[in-house]
Amino acid sequence: MPPRHRDPVAVVPAASIPAAERLARLAALAGRVFDGRPRPAAWLADRARRGCVDWDASVVAVTTGGATPVLCGFGLVGRPPSVAPVARAAGMGVLPTARGRGLGRRLVRHMLAGAAAAGATVLEVTAHPTRAAFYERLGFHRTGAMETWCTTLRGGRGAWREADAPWADEALAPAATDLEETWSRGRGPRSWVWGDGPSRIVAHTIEVAGGALTVRVAAAPGADLVTALAALPGAARARALFVTGVPPRGPARRALARAGFRLVERGERLRAPAEPLGTARTREMAFPLDNDRSPGR
Ligand SMILES: CC(C)(COP(=O)(O)OP(=O)(O)OC[C@H]1O[C@@H](n2cnc3c(N)ncnc32)[C@H](O)[C@@H]1OP(=O)(O)O)[C@@H](O)C(=O)NCCC(=O)NCCS
Repeated sequence: MPPRHRDPVAVVPAASIPAAERLARLAALAGRVFDGRPRPAAWLADRARRGCVDWDASVVAVTTGGATPVLCGFGLVGRPPSVAPVARAAGMGVLPTARGRGLGRRLVRHMLAGAAAAGATVLEVTAHPTRAAFYERLGFHRTGAMETWCTTLRGGRGAWREADAPWADEALAPAATDLEETWSRGRGPRSWVWGDGPSRIVAHTIEVAGGALTVRVAAAPGADLVTALAALPGAARARALFVTGVPPRGPARRALARAGFRLVERGERLRAPAEPLGTARTREMAFPLDNDRSPGR
């Protein structure tokens, strides 16, 4: 039964949901929160691993009025070691039937408290542009934006070769993003190298639904980024190649546009200090979820 607008709701750690059913239940909830399309547990497992989700710092909202608590919101907090002491939100949302009564605000406050309890000083979110104002109302400030660009497979491997390139190559400047854990914990992480020595370019990809995702491009000064990026889909042999984390200004964005990629998504980056809630969190953490056995509710 969907939550009614007046049902009382508690916010508790996501770790309260038994581990054996957590991923399936949260994936089902996320599907209903975002677009109504069901999502399998494996979808969330992949995202949670890449986002270094900390289940004790992450939270869920459950109704407390009826005999069976119903999940109606969630907020995932990730702790990627490479950005510590910053924590990164890995998704949050509220069921459409439970929106507009302060639950989103409560979830975010609990995420900030969960991040603080896990040792983070700051919580960073990447929000769809239409959601940035929501976070600003909650005290977050914008720190920039990141874009995702895409192109479909074209022939020709060019001069790319698969290589055992290290994630951080001190000699090369990152032209786009730095999502180290996304790569090392993603499915099928691979490294690609274009050129040699002082003029080389390195790209790191993982497998995602619909193609390959490039999470880092690093290049030597003066390297031919446009020609290299245009040839990368052929090398990765993916139906579509995405490049994410691209700053909205700078050489990588210009090179992607000139190499025939198109912009598919823009995310606003925002931050707020991680801080404890005080007594409210302690009280709400005690709420048991053990009697809630209906997957996806
Ligand atoms: C965004 C979302 C979490 C808000 O949840 P909610 O429970 O309706 O939010 P609240 O009722 O706690 O609203 C808190 C404040 O934010 C404001 N707000 C809510 N949604 C907003 C939006 N999209 N843009 C701007 N402000 C927004 C509210 O007016 C309220 O302001 P006030 O307290 O000053 O009056 C919810 O709409 C949702 O789950 N959307 C789909 C998933 C999603 O977009 N998740 C975020 C991904 S980045």
